[in-house]
Formats: sequence, structure tokens, C-alpha cells
Amino acid sequence: MQNKIEEIKRNALSEIEQATDLKTLEEVKNIYLSRNSEFNNLKKGMKDLSPEEKPVIGALLNKVSNELNSLFEEKKDAFYKKELNEKLLKEKIDVTLDGEYIPAGHIHPLTQTVNEIVEIFNHLGFSLVDSIYSPEVEVEKYNFDLLNVPKEHPARDVQDTFYCEGGNNVVLRSQTSNAQVRKMMNSKPPIKIIAPGRVYRNESVSARKNNLFHQIEGLYVDKNVTMAQLKGVLNEFIRLYFGSSRPTRYRSSFFPFTEPSVEIDVQCIMCQGKGCSVCSGTGWLEILGAGMTDPNVLRDSGIDPETYSAFAFGMGVERLTMLKYAIDDIRLFFNNDVRFLKQF
Ligand code: PHE
Repeated sequence: MQNKIEEIKRNALSEIEQATDLKTLEEVKNIYLSRNSEFNNLKKGMKDLSPEEKPVIGALLNKVSNELNSLFEEKKDAFYKKELNEKLLKEKIDVTLDGEYIPAGHIHPLTQTVNEIVEIFNHLGFSLVDSIYSPEVEVEKYNFDLLNVPKEHPARDVQDTFYCEGGNNVVLRSQTSNAQVRKMMNSKPPIKIIAPGRVYRNESVSARKNNLFHQIEGLYVDKNVTMAQLKGVLNEFIRLYFGSSRPTRYRSSFFPFTEPSVEIDVQCIMCQGKGCSVCSGTGWLEILGAGMTDPNVLRDSGIDPETYSAFAFGMGVERLTMLKYAIDDIRLFFNNDVRFLKQF
């Protein structure tokens, strides 16, 4: 029995010695120390031994099994370390190398302006209109009819407005004012909204005009809304957007859907009011149209003009961005040259 144990030990030792990787080592361990191993069978045979032999053989079996076990562990550890070292060596990284350049996106200056203006009007109590009330592809009814624009008005001319094919009165909206009508027809006052979006006009493209541009529409409907409130809100907007120092003026004007109507000019940023080519020598640049909503428009949109009054305004996003950053060509916004866009 003792000899048998010694023999198993010798064999095991030599095989452990010869194992060159983790996998072989596990196999060797399985052969010599698993439950079905010869060694384990010897342990099971202990019960047949004489009382004198039992403690001697028992102690020997324990000793050998402990020896083998710790040898396995030792060698396993060594293999682990070796493998890890090889891996670390292979995957070595040089932390002093430059990082890879990952180009980041950039928020378009027009989007930045829209965001900024929306935030200002949120602060003044206006909320963003749901986009379902502000479609870009529109029927004449909402772009013109319900805004009190006469059938023969020149703005409806195909030279000014893009009509879709098929003669079904579908246009690319020429103004965000369609959002006013759609919102009034679908809700009850008080209404206090702004509606930013794209508009289209059949213009020849130049440094000052593009046939796609952006507007932000505003509407406030409630009892006792006054022209004084209109001025208060728009003055505050101008102060927050341009800073308090920029001179502004109100000019009386005309829109079919407001009465009275005004246009607001700010002093030309290029010449500080002296007069230059950008402001056609006037020293002023128009930034928005506004007015008290015509009672016809309220009535046609389902709001009683005897009970409610309203003011509305519309502004050009490109114009406002150009004025703030002294950009002199509207086409720069649409060329998508990152060297331009990244400056904002
Ligand atoms: N829709 C007008 C335009 O495009 C601007 C405007 C909006 C004027 C609301 C008055 C009230 O010129």
C-alpha cells in the first residue's frame, strides 16, 4: 500500500513537472486527485485496513494529497502569472502618445438663435407651440385665407409663394403665421405661444435673401391684451437678445392680419446708424413685424373678438443672427462650411 502511494506520488510529480500550460496541468490534476482517481480509490479502501495500518496509511494519504494539491496550486499560479505577463507585454500601450482626433458636431448658429429666443420667450411666459400646429407644407386656407389675406394679394402670386403641383391650393408656407390660426382654432384663450420654423418664398437668392429661411411667430390671446403689452414684451425681448445698449424704433406698418401694425427696427450693427450698404443708407434694419390681431382673424378662428383681444409678432431668425454677429451674407448659413459654422 505504501509503495503504491509512493508510486502514484512519483508519477504525479513527474507529470506535473512536464506540464507546460494551464490546460495540461488541469488534466493532470484531474487524473490524480479527482473522485475517480486511483488515489481516491485508495482512500476509499482504508476501511479494509487493520487498526494498526489505518493511522499510518491515513496520515500518509493526507500528507501526499496535501503535497500534490499545493504543488498544483503553486504551478497553476505560476502559469497564470506567466500568461498575464505575456498578455500585458503584447497589449502594452504608450500613454504618452497623442490621442486620436474625434471630430465633434456643432450646433448650427441658426439653431442656437432659435434656442436662445425660445428661452427668452419662455421666460416671458410664452410656450413652444406643438409642431402639429405649425406644418411647413400648408393649404392656402391657413397660410392666407384665415389670416385675412385677400385673394388678389400679391403675396399669393406664384412669383412670391411656392405652390405644390396639382392645383389643390397646397403651398410651402410663406410665413409661420399659419401656426397662429391653427393654434386658435384648436384651443381656448388664454393662448401665449411661440412657433419657430422654416418658411419658403420664391425669391432670387442673394447676400440678403434666400428662398428658405426661418421665422419665429408669437401670439398672445387673452382678455384685455393691449398694444402697451405688445411693446412691453417686445422691448424686453430686444433688451435680452441684443443687450440694453442697442437703439430701436417702432414704425407703423401694414399686415392683413393685424391692425394696427408695426415694424421694429434696430440700429444697423455694421455702421452704428451712420448709413451703409447693408442698411441701404438708412442706419436702421428691420427685425420684426407685429400688431394687434385683426378682429376678423380672431372671429374666423373661433375666438370672440368682443371678449378677447390679441397681439402677434413674427421675426426673421437669419436676420437676427446676422445682426448679432455682424454676418453679411445669408447664404453662409446654408453652405454648411464647418469653418464658418464653428465660429459660433
Ligand atoms: N407674417 C409676417 C411676415 O412674414 C410677420 C408678422 C407676424 C407680422 C405676426 C405681424 C404679426 O412678414
